[in-house]
Amino acid sequence: MTQAVQTLRWVDGALEMIDQRVLPARFDYVRYTNAAEVADGIRLMVVRGAPAIGCAAAYGVALEAMALLHGGREAFVSGLERAFEVLAASRPTAVNLFWALQRMRAIWRINQQRAQSEIAAILLAQAHEISVEDVRINRAMGAHGAALLTDGARVLTHCNAGALATAGHGTALGVIRSAVEAGKRISVIADETRPFLQGARLTAWEMVQEGIPVTLITDNMAGHLMRCGEVDAVIVGTDRVAANGDVANKIGTYMVAVLAQRHAIPFYVACPLSTIDLTLAHGDAIPIEERAAAEVTGFRDCQWAAQGVQVRNPAFDVTPAELVTALITEKGVVRQPNRENIARLFGA
Ligand code: MRU
Repeated sequence: MTQAVQTLRWVDGALEMIDQRVLPARFDYVRYTNAAEVADGIRLMVVRGAPAIGCAAAYGVALEAMALLHGGREAFVSGLERAFEVLAASRPTAVNLFWALQRMRAIWRINQQRAQSEIAAILLAQAHEISVEDVRINRAMGAHGAALLTDGARVLTHCNAGALATAGHGTALGVIRSAVEAGKRISVIADETRPFLQGARLTAWEMVQEGIPVTLITDNMAGHLMRCGEVDAVIVGTDRVAANGDVANKIGTYMVAVLAQRHAIPFYVACPLSTIDLTLAHGDAIPIEERAAAEVTGFRDCQWAAQGVQVRNPAFDVTPAELVTALITEKGVVRQPNRENIARLFGA
C-alpha cells in the first residue's frame, strides 16, 4: 500500500509539512524545528484537518524537547510546559489537538526522571507512533465504511477529510479510497467549501491525483443535485463529536445534513475515537473558532466585498446527532449515534 500524499514527514531531525495554503498551485513543504513554529503552522493553516493537527502538535512537543536539550533541567521543564501551552492555543475546535497533547503529556510525566536526551527520544517516538496509528485507524474506518457504499455510488463530501487532513489515507476520503480499492466504482461530488476552499483546492486535488472521478460544485448547488437524484450518500469528517453524538465539522456541514435528511440520503460521519469528546454532553458546548473577516471578504489579493462591511466567519458548525445516519469509527459503524451507543464504543 503506497501512501500518495505525505502531509507530515520527518526529515533530518525536523518536521516538514505540505503547505496547504498554496495547494494546488504549488506543492511545497515547510520545515519546522520548535513548538512555536509548529503552533504557527497550525494557526495559519499550513496544516489543517483534525487528525493532522493532532499529529503536528505531537511533533511540536518532541521538537521543543530536542531544541531544549542543551540548557539546564529547569529550562527544559519550563520550556516544555510552555510548548504545551502554545500548541494548545493554536486552534480551538478540533479535539484531536488536545487529545494528542494529553497523550504527549502523559509520556512526559511518566519519564520525567530520565535524562533530557532520553525524554526527547521517547517523545519523538511517541509522535511517530501517533502518526503511524492514525493511518492504521483510517484504514480500519475505510474498511468498515466501504461496506456502506454501493458500486456506482455518487458520494458528496464537504471540506477536506482526506490524506491532507490526516497522517495518510484520510477519514471521509479514506472510506472512498477503501471502497475504490475494493473494486467499487465510486464518484465524488466535492463541495468547494467556502470560505477557505478546502473542497476545491484540496479534496478535488487529492481525487484528481488518484484518478477517482470527482465533480466540483459550489456549496449552494448541493440541494439542487440532491433534488435531481444525483447524490447517493454524504460522507464527511469531523473535528469533535460530543458524548451525545452531535458533530462539529466545517461550516456548511449542518446545511448539507439537513438537505440529506430532506432527500432521504444517508449522512455518514467518519470519526476516529480520538475525535469523540466524552467530556462534552452535547454539541452546544463545542468551542467554535471564529476566523478573520478577510477570508469572507476576498481571497488572497482579491477583495470583492465592500470595505468596512460587518462579517461573521465561524469556521465550524454543529450537526445534531439526529441527522447523522451513522458514525464510521475504527471499531465499526455506529448507527443512529446517541449517548448509549457512543459510551459502549469506549467500553462503558
Ligand atoms: O478548518 P479545517 O480545514 O482544519 O477544518 C477541517 C474539517 O472540518 C475536516 O472536515 C475535519 O477536520 C475532519 S478531517 C479528517
